[in-house]
Amino acid sequence: MSKIVIEGGYPLCGVIDIQGAKNSILPILAAAYLADGDCVIDNCPDISDTHAAIEILRALGSTVTIHGNTVYINSDYACGFEIPDKLMRKMRSSIMFLGAILGKKKRALVSFPGGCELGPRPIDIHISALSKMGVTIREEFGYLDCECKNIKGTVLDLSFPSVGATENIMLAAVKADGVTVINNAAKEPEIEDLQNFLVKMGGKISGAGSGRIIIQGVPKLTGTRHSVIPDRIVTATYICAVAATGGNALLKKAEASHLGTLLSFLRESGCEINTYDDAIQVSCDSLKGGHTVRTMPFPGFATDAQAVCMAMMCKARGSTVFIETIFESRFKQVGELLRMGAKITTEGRVAVTEGVKKLYGTTVEAGDLRGGASLVVAGLSAEGTTVIDNAEHIYRGYENIEKNLSDLGAKITSEK
Ligand code: UD1
Repeated sequence: MSKIVIEGGYPLCGVIDIQGAKNSILPILAAAYLADGDCVIDNCPDISDTHAAIEILRALGSTVTIHGNTVYINSDYACGFEIPDKLMRKMRSSIMFLGAILGKKKRALVSFPGGCELGPRPIDIHISALSKMGVTIREEFGYLDCECKNIKGTVLDLSFPSVGATENIMLAAVKADGVTVINNAAKEPEIEDLQNFLVKMGGKISGAGSGRIIIQGVPKLTGTRHSVIPDRIVTATYICAVAATGGNALLKKAEASHLGTLLSFLRESGCEINTYDDAIQVSCDSLKGGHTVRTMPFPGFATDAQAVCMAMMCKARGSTVFIETIFESRFKQVGELLRMGAKITTEGRVAVTEGVKKLYGTTVEAGDLRGGASLVVAGLSAEGTTVIDNAEHIYRGYENIEKNLSDLGAKITSEK
């Protein structure tokens, strides 16, 4: 079990680079399975979820090599259609490979992703869309056995703008027969990044970011080179850490337009934020509550940023209301923040923080990726030493988190 140890109370000041986006690299690696020829992906985050996706590609028969933050993939001789159960369990979002495997092999066998740390995570939207595209799907013994002669383009009206379902459909549709239209598609920046990658591969796709995506199937996709967009949730995490410690930092290689309504919440809460072409400067003297945050699909307030913002607001003047509308069980961090002296009450999907003067370091446990990151934010602003157990959750999404925070002046070490 890994742990992160933080001696809190030091304002974070300095300059760091923001890593590539976890939620972009995963579908992009899946897309690389569809290419004839070499794909080269730059700005690839060195996080455990990336390595899990690379393991899936290798299990499918692709050749993958890694040099720093660049990954080289060749799937010319890959012919796998099954994702081993242990890899599906490692990363629930491996369901994203389904569309790509079907696009290439017309057959896919994956274990059912089931529940996860955020509550039940159904895949009914993925299944209903793929069925409408001509895929026969049998659910047997915890497995999804999917088969089709040809994937057929069609018009799909999603009941919810699911990120994963939108990506799965794009991956299945890019080499399908005919035109696929996705109405009520997810608008997250990572969807646009996937579109850009597929277009460079020769795909005919437009509309990503608008809620209506149109995909004209093509018979062949070729290898290409692509650089992954910056991670907006990691950006939000460092902004919250800097603000919670009363610091002042420049986050380079960051994209402010990808933060959606989060930016206005941060500003209203007392953060001074200056945005540049590819950087964000943040500083903060004092934080003030008084707001209600409702997590929503992009460009609304990102559910993935809820926990780190909650940790930041624990020491704000006044109270803040957090309403979680996307996932059922996303307040795992609350019990741990309470151990550190925070005042938070929860009722179902609503949590209310009431600012306290001080948080105190103690031993806490990361229950999921973003909940774990929120404990880092809290630990940095707490008095004394915070020990975060189960830090593996945090390494799923944060590259070099100890080094980045040390570069900003934090006292942080880890035991892996
Ligand atoms: C993606 C992100 C995750 C983020 C989430 C919401 C990746 C790898 N992960 O997850 O970090 O928190 O978007 O922004 O990109 N749902 C259904 N049926 C379905 C699909 C989804 O009911 O078939 C529900 C889910 O249970 C959840 C909501 O829709 O309540 C959002 O899920 P979705 O947008 O699909 O999230 P993910 O793609 O799993």
